[in-house]
Amino acid sequence: MNRILITGGSGFIGSHTCLHLLSEGYDIFVIDSLVNSSEKSINQIKKFFKEEKNKVLNNLRFFKGDLKDKDFINNVFKVAQKENNPIKGVIHFAGLKAVGESVSQPLLYWDNNVIGSYNLIKSMSENDCRTIVFSSSATVYGSSSIDLLREDSTLAPTNPYGTTKLSVENLLKDINQSKNKNWRIAILRYFNPIGAHKSGLIGENPLQKPNNIFPIIINSAFTKEKLKVFGNDWPTEDGTCIRDYIHVMDLAEGHLKSLNYLIENDPQLLTLNIGKGRGISVIELIKTFENVNNISVPFEFDKRREGDVCKLVADNSKLKSILNWSPTKSLEEMCKDGWKWKNLNPKGYSEHN
Ligand code: WQD
Repeated sequence: MNRILITGGSGFIGSHTCLHLLSEGYDIFVIDSLVNSSEKSINQIKKFFKEEKNKVLNNLRFFKGDLKDKDFINNVFKVAQKENNPIKGVIHFAGLKAVGESVSQPLLYWDNNVIGSYNLIKSMSENDCRTIVFSSSATVYGSSSIDLLREDSTLAPTNPYGTTKLSVENLLKDINQSKNKNWRIAILRYFNPIGAHKSGLIGENPLQKPNNIFPIIINSAFTKEKLKVFGNDWPTEDGTCIRDYIHVMDLAEGHLKSLNYLIENDPQLLTLNIGKGRGISVIELIKTFENVNNISVPFEFDKRREGDVCKLVADNSKLKSILNWSPTKSLEEMCKDGWKWKNLNPKGYSEHN
């Protein structure tokens, strides 16, 4: 069976994608530095399959290491080659992703996100592995007034996080133009992934204080600490920002569909928006969470957050036409699954030894 390398595989989106690929019969090698995630997510994936009495456990191998260490990356490829099951493709999640932190520490973001990606791609080339699904982000669009963002919309990131993502996209575009033209590349631009696997065994587990809204809503529901809504004077119906929220398991499915598409088709570079194409305001998200889970989320309005844009919603028609697939899970499911994860793991993975 096809062996896939997943970088950043113990993180939020990475761990959900690992679980999904395993259930679809892939053999996976996971590498993660654990700088921003916990290996306990891998243990929980094993627990899920143990409960399912599923023999996929020997198809999951974890290697702790950093993409800044080129020898470490090469060694992982060599281990697969020695077993006569070389790595067929890579799904590359590893990277730092806090917009605010990237503004205060741009060198840290360029080192992790750009140098790390360069090392990985170079090692792939040296090991004859030229199929990659890259985790990019809607932040490459910057502050756009366009209603639904298309893949050919203007690319103008407004923070170092977005700039590093666009830089790696440009490296992949250069490789795709190169003479040997035998790379299969999918660039997936995420919008706002939230929720958790329906088992409640894995979920979003920020090691530091969370920046994004969904884990903050969950914390406020749990602790009754007031959530600050950043601005109620935006030019929207209820005055709060609009985003395109997508269930993390839909995002995992999007990676599987993209990987299978690359493997089954000729060398090419594919750029896709991975969103639901539906704009939800901060207040709508809070109210949906409260109604679905029958719980109150205390909040107060605060001033706008530096760097925020009013609206980020995907035009996902290219996703639908090329992969013949689109996200199916509702906002209600995202809220229900996220709350279940919290209730089963009040302290996240630190609950588990
Ligand atoms: C969503 C909305 C805030 C916190 C970022 C990254 C993006 C992706 C997702 C990695 C905004 C509002 C938030 C709070 C609030 N990460 N908000 N109070 O900024 O759309 O995207 O995270 O890929 O790349 O840029 O997500 O969840 O931070 O904010 O009112 O305490 O919630 O103003 O309107 P964002 P977010």
